[in-house]
Amino acid sequence: MKRILSGVQPTGNMHLGNYLGALKQWVQMQQDYECLFCIVDLHALTIPSSQPHLLRKHTLDVAALYIAAGLNPETNIIFPQSAIPGHSELMWILSCHTPLGWLNRMTQFKEKSKNNSSHADLGLYSYPVLMAADILLYQATDVPVGDDQKQHIEMARDLAGSFNRFYGKDLFKIPEPRIIGHATRVMSLKDGTKKMSKSDPAEGSRIGLIDSPDVIFEKFKKAKTDAFPFPEAFDSLQDRPEIRNLITIYAALADITPSKVCELFGGQNFAPFKAALAELTIEVLDPLRQKFLALQQNPDYLTKILKKGQEDALEIGEKTLKEVQEAVGLLQLL
Ligand code: TYM
Repeated sequence: MKRILSGVQPTGNMHLGNYLGALKQWVQMQQDYECLFCIVDLHALTIPSSQPHLLRKHTLDVAALYIAAGLNPETNIIFPQSAIPGHSELMWILSCHTPLGWLNRMTQFKEKSKNNSSHADLGLYSYPVLMAADILLYQATDVPVGDDQKQHIEMARDLAGSFNRFYGKDLFKIPEPRIIGHATRVMSLKDGTKKMSKSDPAEGSRIGLIDSPDVIFEKFKKAKTDAFPFPEAFDSLQDRPEIRNLITIYAALADITPSKVCELFGGQNFAPFKAALAELTIEVLDPLRQKFLALQQNPDYLTKILKKGQEDALEIGEKTLKEVQEAVGLLQLL
């Protein structure tokens, strides 16, 4: 059976990039795989917060968003990362096999530590090793993510391979990154060269998954474009990153090709396209928002789902952890 493991950091502000790059793909794949969807709260600690209650709230919110987006809580395993101590233990064991050169190459660490040098700490640096542990603990075969996570998954593959060779055993499956759809890297609405991100201080740079219809209209209306008409063709848009991004978003939401979007709107000015894009986004996100708001009223239900997820994840992860402990020589007392 093929198995998926993927996750989102509960740092608030989940956006259209998270939906198109990850959640929408998960919803489409859930029938064909055994799935574990983690809420990676330990990863969220790499941005320390003096408001711990917010992390707990965001963790439940992400669970609600997973379900509201269409993940079936009866058939998928949904759980917080910190509920399974095996992630942290496996991370330590993998750390002892991770060359510093691999971590030094990670572009996300370079970017994040450059933007906020006061937070350039060991947690942020070793983040990809924890991510490898998340994946390898469950012997995941497939990891559906947005384009920004590709390098981390490649490191998880390298780590699994070198660990297996070192101990002369297939202790870990080698996971495949699954980077699917038209919008694997959704860009900021204010700057088409920057990724749409939860941490961008400009609210208008992203469409939040629970933005109201009015806010969505306003944000698209104010999204950066240029003085030229809507393109007739999708290629040759290298110098128009904002336009390329909006067309890609439309295509991904409508499940059509970007070229088809150019056929539909080519030659017009941007106002009717932006209005159509807002309408389409609302058509997709508003039902999600309504379900989310209803689920948010029911934290007991969400906690029950997460507890069940914890039990199921524990059972799968335990097997790998025991085999790894055994292989590296840790004494088994039980
Ligand atoms: P996170 O929380 O930043 O993002 C969650 C998912 O959304 C995708 N994504 C995007 N896709 C398209 N366009 C964007 N602008 C965009 N921004 C984010 C991400 O690629 C991701 O799939 N390190 C991960 C979480 C993680 C994880 C894992 C993922 C921890 N352990 C194990 C897979 C497997 C992260 O920070 O995602």
